[in-house]
Amino acid sequence: MLKLITLILALVPQLLPVPAKMQVRDGSFKVDGEKRMQWVLDPACALPPEGYTLDITRGRVRALASTETGLFYAKQTLKQLEQNGFLPCCTITDYPRFAWRGFHIDPCRHFMPVEEVKKQIDILASYKMNVMHWHLTDDQGWRIEIKRYPPLRDVGGTRTEFDGSVHQGCYTQEEIRDVVAYAAERHVTVVPEIEMPGHAIAAIRAFPELSCTGEAISTFYTWGSPNIVMCPGKDLMFEFLDNVIAEVVDLFPSEYIHIGGDECKKDKWIKCPRCQERIKALGLVADENGTAEEKLQSYAVRRMENILAKYGKKLIGWDEILEGGLSPNATVMSWRGEEGGIAAALQGHDVIMTPSKEGMYLDHVQGDPKIEPVSIGNYTTMEKAYNYDPVPEELVKNGMDNYVIGLQCNLWSEYIYSDDHRNYMLFPRAFAVAETGWSLKENKDWESFRVRVDRACQDLDSRGVNYHIPLPEQPGGSCDNIAFIDKAVLEFTTTRPMAAIVYTTDDTEPTVASAAYERPLEFTESATLKIASVTPYGKLSPVRTINIAKQQPWPAVAKASEGLKAWRADGRFVSAADLEGARWNEIKLEKLRDMTTLEPFDRNMPDTLRFYAVKAQGSFKVKETGVYRFSSDCDQVWIDGKLLIDNGAEVKRFSRHDAEAALEAGAHDVQVIYIYNVVGGWNSIRNKTDVQMRKEGSEKWRKIEIL
Ligand code: ACM
Ligand code: ZN
Repeated sequence: MLKLITLILALVPQLLPVPAKMQVRDGSFKVDGEKRMQWVLDPACALPPEGYTLDITRGRVRALASTETGLFYAKQTLKQLEQNGFLPCCTITDYPRFAWRGFHIDPCRHFMPVEEVKKQIDILASYKMNVMHWHLTDDQGWRIEIKRYPPLRDVGGTRTEFDGSVHQGCYTQEEIRDVVAYAAERHVTVVPEIEMPGHAIAAIRAFPELSCTGEAISTFYTWGSPNIVMCPGKDLMFEFLDNVIAEVVDLFPSEYIHIGGDECKKDKWIKCPRCQERIKALGLVADENGTAEEKLQSYAVRRMENILAKYGKKLIGWDEILEGGLSPNATVMSWRGEEGGIAAALQGHDVIMTPSKEGMYLDHVQGDPKIEPVSIGNYTTMEKAYNYDPVPEELVKNGMDNYVIGLQCNLWSEYIYSDDHRNYMLFPRAFAVAETGWSLKENKDWESFRVRVDRACQDLDSRGVNYHIPLPEQPGGSCDNIAFIDKAVLEFTTTRPMAAIVYTTDDTEPTVASAAYERPLEFTESATLKIASVTPYGKLSPVRTINIAKQQPWPAVAKASEGLKAWRADGRFVSAADLEGARWNEIKLEKLRDMTTLEPFDRNMPDTLRFYAVKAQGSFKVKETGVYRFSSDCDQVWIDGKLLIDNGAEVKRFSRHDAEAALEAGAHDVQVIYIYNVVGGWNSIRNKTDVQMRKEGSEKWRKIEIL
């Protein structure tokens, strides 16, 4: 079967997703020649609802479907076939494997303009995805106009960042209707998510009475799961949500509304008299199915289910809604793994699989995190996304696999600061998810997909849409600041095969005609290496610039210092450049790690937080003369008086500016600058502020030990 598919795809390599069945006959004809088109809608034909047949003979194309949706998909297939300039004579019978082929967008952390939302729908619909999950409310922003509650937009839709800049955005109801209609024309259903009871700080900022304490809270401009959540002890929470839902259902014809339900911290509920009263009144007690507070959340979700049912809508929630007992008719979106989805399906509930670590979270980094743009971390290559299958063996064994109604990729936007970068994270991995959603499992084949995806990427080029091309990476860890004593040998690879890797060493930008990398590159003199990978259709990845420095080992210091000397400066500093003229006061510091502990960690970001910077100096020892690579999440690392690592004003989620130095055996001085701040939503108090080092040839990092 696979051989047949491969043969078919060799003839028409561009089809994505792979159709269910395809029979290629002799002959083809030019796209711009005479042709007779027949679009036949026959509700009585035996094709599944989204299925179609496409019959192409010389000069004639006939599409048949039982629904308009089927004809729409026939048209998408035809468009892909036409990209070659000729149409092969063939018969295609096609239908999807899953009813839910979803993609999720998060305009809450970083707003996504309507035009970008539409562009994304347009692209993904053409690859036969059919649900857009619109995550419209969260801690950092409320993004849907609710006419009854203007403060949701005016207060909840705006946040002031650490540096004083303002991030805002809120879709008007008119814009939402427009997007929903645009999606419907492309046979995409838009499912809104209104988060409760956690991830609701934007709403609580607008209406503090929604929380347990009712306290006014400040703007929330960092990422994570704070413990300020709605209070299910209060009826007004449900009145508020009912009023919101009343307007939401009017905008979205979808049969489902997503109510969130994930990552709700419950410590405030334990202390809240109203929550505890409710627990008592309902007789909720902790048992093997959950704590009393988890059961309180379950109660709140059931009330949401009843509210939705009033409007004829069905509830979807993240897999946390299993805790404390699942609502009778809930559909579960399994994100923390497949376990929640399996448990829900075994109870006879519909399930959408979107497990984060198994390849469905497209906010995860897709190459070496040392050189890819800052992300939330983890690791999801396109191959990993492609190889995920949403039907777990356990459900097949138990005959419950039909409860998996589909899969979805999620693109959270904490680290997505631009439209180009959103597309870089989304494409082409979303195409892998599109193929898994549509194509029969037995028709999927990674080797064929990774070739066919190139055509889809060229389609993105024609639309002016950015996407990821694997960068040349150094096995064992990429580094753009290399040092050597006698000779440097640099090896490169890519996360999936590319047509070539090209490079220059004369400071010019590489092109497809530059020298091709064939074997590890050797350097005996200092150089600047510019290196990029090349796709089979001749497009270059972003260029990496690698500084390669021949060094005499830096001499050991004559007198090592003992312990750390440290100074603190108070203020809101964005980068080390802001520290000029800062007032430093000497402090006691035991370990570099302690630089983050001078003020209490408070995820809730109250206005009372005191930001600061620390400068710390000491000495450390290296046993052998050699080249050492350094890594640090701090703002700057100086070795022997030279600035080695400068993270600038970049988001210091993790170190991306590793650098090497040749050091003589003995003691060396280190100076570190750490700034407690929030850049791009990342709270640097969560960083590990050690300095890590490893000797050339070793893969093992260790902390430098201050003498
Ligand atoms: C989630 O990623 N918190 C659903
Ligand atoms: Zn409460």
